Amino acid sequence: MKYGYFDDAAREYVITRPDTPYPWINYLGEEDFFSLMSNTSGGYSFYKDARMLRLTRYRYNNVPTDAGGKYYYINENGDLWTPGWMPVKADLEKYECRHGLGYTVITGKRNGLLCEQTALVPLGYTAEVTRVKFRNETDKKKEFTFFSFVEFCLWNALDDMTNFQRNFSIGEVEVIGTTIYHKTEYRERRNHYAVFSVNANIDGFDTDRETFIGLYNGFDDPDVPKAGKSRNSIASGWAPIGSHSIKVKLEPGEEKSFIFVLGYCENPEDQKWECPGVINKAPAQKLLAAFRTDEQFEAAMQAMHAYFEEQLSNYQAKTPDEKMNRMVNTWNQYQCTVTYHMSRSASYFESGIGRGMGFRDSTQDLLGFVHIIPELARERILDIAATQMEDGSAYHQYQPLTKKGNNDIGSGFNDDPLWLIFGVAAYIKETGDESILDEMVAYDCDASKAKPLSDHLIRSFHHVTDNLGPHGLPLIGRADWNDCLNLNCFSKTPGESFQTTANFESGVAESVFIAGMFVAVGEDYQQLCKMRGLDDEAAFADVECKKMYDTVMKDGWDGKWFLRAYDAFGNKIGSHENRDGQIFIEPQGFCVMAGIGIKEGRAKEALDSVRDLLDTPYGVSLLWPTYKEYHVELGEITSYPPSYKENGGIFCHNNPWITIAETMIGRGDRALSTYQHICPAYTEDISERHRTEPYVYPQMIASVDAPRQGEAKNSWLTGTASWTLYSVTQYILGIRPQYNGLMIDPCISDKWDGFTITRKFRGDTFHITVTNPDHVMKGVKSITVDGKAIEGNVLPVYGDGKEHNVQAVMG
Ligand code: BGC
Repeated sequence: MKYGYFDDAAREYVITRPDTPYPWINYLGEEDFFSLMSNTSGGYSFYKDARMLRLTRYRYNNVPTDAGGKYYYINENGDLWTPGWMPVKADLEKYECRHGLGYTVITGKRNGLLCEQTALVPLGYTAEVTRVKFRNETDKKKEFTFFSFVEFCLWNALDDMTNFQRNFSIGEVEVIGTTIYHKTEYRERRNHYAVFSVNANIDGFDTDRETFIGLYNGFDDPDVPKAGKSRNSIASGWAPIGSHSIKVKLEPGEEKSFIFVLGYCENPEDQKWECPGVINKAPAQKLLAAFRTDEQFEAAMQAMHAYFEEQLSNYQAKTPDEKMNRMVNTWNQYQCTVTYHMSRSASYFESGIGRGMGFRDSTQDLLGFVHIIPELARERILDIAATQMEDGSAYHQYQPLTKKGNNDIGSGFNDDPLWLIFGVAAYIKETGDESILDEMVAYDCDASKAKPLSDHLIRSFHHVTDNLGPHGLPLIGRADWNDCLNLNCFSKTPGESFQTTANFESGVAESVFIAGMFVAVGEDYQQLCKMRGLDDEAAFADVECKKMYDTVMKDGWDGKWFLRAYDAFGNKIGSHENRDGQIFIEPQGFCVMAGIGIKEGRAKEALDSVRDLLDTPYGVSLLWPTYKEYHVELGEITSYPPSYKENGGIFCHNNPWITIAETMIGRGDRALSTYQHICPAYTEDISERHRTEPYVYPQMIASVDAPRQGEAKNSWLTGTASWTLYSVTQYILGIRPQYNGLMIDPCISDKWDGFTITRKFRGDTFHITVTNPDHVMKGVKSITVDGKAIEGNVLPVYGDGKEHNVQAVMG
């Protein structure tokens, strides 16, 4: 069952009923200010860091779900309603939510009064701007009052929801004209405040939640909107809010609009005050002056459209598969911009408090983002590398505001360092900008320890070779990609974190996954070394990679698939000898991606085992059979009920590894079906089962042992976004940046006649037509560029900034 449809031309997902199977959200903000906005107007805003500088409140896991947001209550002759349906839930004559790229339009209609609320975070501003437009669609005059509403967060989101003995006394606001200033803690150590304002005369305001809502009411039943009159309350401690009321008269057919600005303003330390006790309002005035008129608002919307058209124009595909087109051309790329900004910090499943930016997560996110805005990818790489430690290991995450590593989720995840090589290689292949290798980058955020980025890569690589176990495979440390395979943890205490508790370093537990990854990045690493004249290091890497290849073939192979790991006692994990957890997806994907076992026929065997043992109609499960009991020697993975999360759920993140692996052995049909199974545009048809947004990937889908198989969770912030985009654009459609040009190496269904791609690459624009006259799955027999044949399948870098027509013939 569907709850809406894709409007491909507008690049919008249109939700046609408000009671979606879960709140379906959008992200507003492309720079420093961000809002999460649901299809019923729920959500919250923050500046840069969802934990440290949160502007408005949101209560996770609330009853009812998704209560709290930016609301516009309409009172027409005592009839109270909200255009987004929530929170009042009055019946609507019309409801529609259009989630677009960087904006959301929610339209509701009742009693013939149409209200359209359009929200965006305009480029260049630190504010969410909402235009609320009314139209009288009846043939009678209308008179009504409407009330805006936001609830301020006292900045630090964790403190805000825990430290009530202090917080109930510190809230401070100021109201001047139509502008409400939220200035809690400005008098002491903060140099920032929030504003909430409207571009029209108001009939009243409120800033005290208890006065506005009533102590024993909910958002659905607020006193002031119900009574139809503001009380001009000034918050003093407790819970500051922002609300305006405006009386509106509309002739039949008449329209009126109002522009609301919720903004973040900051002053330099020495310019905090206009005069003693009076906050410096200059930044607020400047911000509000930019959104006084409809023309200004329209211009901001146009700029947003143009911005995304430009970003997306770097890769556009026309294939025989309409659903693939809409994902590749719009939604998958869009999700990648969001994961770039958010990492795993703030979604409807990530509270914005628990996790900052992940070292591993953010480097992987680059794969799907680097072609969109390479300069930002560059900046991100340098920020991440600066949190690396001198021994090559890494903080697992860092705070976006301070850019400092934090140990909340520990360190010692032994795959982390290798992802840096992966990210840097992707960046240089996209841009050709080798100079990044020479950038001086701190260790542990200490500038006095800065070394060129190339040195960071060397330490990353050596972190593996310095930490090998008894079989010569990499030691796993606290965990590898699978945060929940904790082989040195042995936790028996309830509530203890599996990621930060390490009872001992066995020096024995080894990861075949890291081994595969090591070989997979090995070739890039050698190339990067050679770029900097480090030939001896490249030669060393070559030897080490070959050794690792052989080690995996010898001690990482189980007969029909690759083993997963050795535990702290040297026992096999992911072997047919085990009762549960006989086969894991990760090493099958990464070892084949590394090319291990392709020539020996083992890659095919491993992928056949994946097909036979892990495939489900909803995607490929992480492992099989699921663990039924807790295993202290395996850790968190066995703490989940069967078929959820890492215990054999369909962990979408690594499905694209299988897609890529399948393309490596030329099975385009398998690659395509793996791609399609988890693709949201395909699961749209079963939204009632799948539950999360049909336009973005979730992290996890419950697999076959779960009572709710096919049900997704953790949408938006997942490495799935970048990996699927990478797999479909670079391996299925096969347009793959190389150090020396753009490779054309598709692996598609043999039923396809071909497809076309427009790809901007290092300043040139390639219009690529791939034809498939022999109906093969893989192989390119000829390529012409602007009518001239070229050797091989790598388009050279012309660097002339021109358009080039490319004809590639498969066969
Ligand atoms: C984490 C990833 C990890 C994955 C598998 C995600 O929640 O963000 O870093 O690789 O889980 O455990």
